[in-house]
Amino acid sequence: MFGKTFVSSLALLAITSANPLEVRITKEKAPKPEKKCAEFDYEKLSLREIGQRNTLDWRMYLLHRDEPISFWHDVPLYPDPSNKNIINFVVEIPRWTDGKIETRRPEALNPIFHDEKDGAPRYVESVWPHKSYPFLYGSIPQTWENPNLNHTFTGFPGDKDPMDLFDISRDDGYTGQIKQVKLLGGLAVNDGDETDWKMLGIDVKDPLAALVNTYEDVEKYRPGTVQAFRDWFTYYKVARGDDIIPIIGETYQNVSFVVDTVEESHKYWQDLVSGKEDPGKISIVQTSQINLSSWIPCKDARKKLNIPKKGSKPQEPAEKPEKYHWWYYLSSEKKLIEVPGSS
Ligand SMILES: *[C@@H]1O[C@H](CO)[C@@H](O)[C@H](O)[C@H]1NC(C)=O
Ligand SMILES: *[C@@H]1O[C@H](CO)[C@@H](O)[C@H](O)[C@H]1NC(C)=O
Ligand SMILES: *[C@@H]1O[C@H](CO)[C@@H](O)[C@H](O)[C@H]1NC(C)=O
Repeated sequence: MFGKTFVSSLALLAITSANPLEVRITKEKAPKPEKKCAEFDYEKLSLREIGQRNTLDWRMYLLHRDEPISFWHDVPLYPDPSNKNIINFVVEIPRWTDGKIETRRPEALNPIFHDEKDGAPRYVESVWPHKSYPFLYGSIPQTWENPNLNHTFTGFPGDKDPMDLFDISRDDGYTGQIKQVKLLGGLAVNDGDETDWKMLGIDVKDPLAALVNTYEDVEKYRPGTVQAFRDWFTYYKVARGDDIIPIIGETYQNVSFVVDTVEESHKYWQDLVSGKEDPGKISIVQTSQINLSSWIPCKDARKKLNIPKKGSKPQEPAEKPEKYHWWYYLSSEKKLIEVPGSS
């Protein structure tokens, strides 16, 4: 990382001395944001938690140089825009956990929260032979599943969320973690007639990452896993009474196609934060795209958006209801097998 920063500052220096006029033009064009939040620095990220985990009031904010920013709108999509196979990933759900944790669309700066179902924190049921989330799960920053058009491949509109990704790295990850992953493929999920891509990635720092470039490569090193993960997405909602979730095209889509699909989704996100698309209930306030009306200077964000100044004292998470410790079993017709008196 240091090496890269060094090289790019050298390049900048070269441009500056070769063509001072060009530098002046750039200066006039873009109002310079305060130095403090101008450049995204991965080393300057931290997290602020408010409230107790496993409750509906719990929130987690992303801080950059100690000021709150948006997980969705302010973390860049590409760590290096010249390599679109590697993208940033926001971990919402660490491996082997069950809470449905995600970035909150309508709230300013889109903090992470515990999703709700029937007035209570939502969890996923474990469907045999799967247990909890068997991978790290989260969202791809600066992408949007556009609900205002039918995706050409799926034929369905987007689900209004940032794009989802599951990461098969060996570390379990933690909520709020920002990491760099290599795209290996993706599942075009049809969830309730909405397009809801689940991209498959691996942390660039994982020992396996250098050996795999596609989901087929993963099969060589971890036989059976890509199929098992596909099945997980197909059946996980059956235990709560939903139908199975169809995967368009049945299997994984290839890397070049999903790299293009992520890029397309980035363009939809640009239309969203620039106001070209009606944001509806989505909060598009952000601190990094200074030429857009959704921009707020990072030094003003906390006060103007009423974001707590301090995190809560660390506390034990609230108890997870017992039924989320159990396994649920499906018949050969893929229906939930119900046992009287067991729920
Ligand atoms: C998307 O497809 C559906 C079903 O074919 C159609 O009814 C709808 O008008 C289409 N929406 C758009 C925005 O094209
Ligand atoms: C990748 O997937 C797309 C969509 O399914 C397909 O049109 C394309 O031919 C595939 N490319 C390769 C090299 O398999
Ligand atoms: C605003 O600036 C960003 C770079 O910060 C650029 O990608 C985008 O195209 C610009 N948008 C408009 C509407 O000029």
